[in-house]
Amino acid sequence: MNRIAVLVSGNGSNLQALLDATASGQLDAEVACVISNSPTAFGLTRAERAGIPAVVLELRSVLTDGHTRAEYDAMLADLVAGFDPDLVVLAGWMLILGTGFLSRFPDRVINLHPALPGMFPGTHAIERAYAAFGAGEIEATGVMVHRVIPEVDAGPVLVTETVPILEGESRADLEARIHEVEHRLIVTAVQQMLAPTTTH
Ligand code: GRF
Repeated sequence: MNRIAVLVSGNGSNLQALLDATASGQLDAEVACVISNSPTAFGLTRAERAGIPAVVLELRSVLTDGHTRAEYDAMLADLVAGFDPDLVVLAGWMLILGTGFLSRFPDRVINLHPALPGMFPGTHAIERAYAAFGAGEIEATGVMVHRVIPEVDAGPVLVTETVPILEGESRADLEARIHEVEHRLIVTAVQQMLAPTTTH
């Protein structure tokens, strides 16, 4: 069975969508491990509840121990590789990963971003889209899942969906609607990545 490593930094609702999809059989795969860079991420609790190995590798403590950021990436890659994943999913993972990590899993790392391709890279994408709507600059935002390259929130797009912003809705309402789309798209993207390639 295909093995997925999921990297989280916070709530882990997208991890939960993957756990639910593997449990229901919608996704023919197992979550092999959950790695967090934050010891307080609720995603760790979700993993433990599902009986899945959950490991914390905190950047700050690694740097405090005298290691470099590049060494952190290498340590993280070693940790993830130890679970022998077929696919690495960044699901709300908030650290930028360099080639030291990415080169260890060529074309096997995907990321979820709560905006359309090329829009609002980096953090607070929903907040910035909501502000841009308020300023009359955009009418819609969206969600994408893409293969990870060193450039942040860029790389070949696997799935994307537009989310119109509704006149008068609160930012919290927009966030909730975007998260719903994310929970669906992350499963579709993983299915797509794990689908056997057909040869002609
Ligand atoms: C998601 O909106 C993701 O796209 C963003 O961070 C959020 C993480 O949510 N980068 P969760 O931890 O999966 O609930």
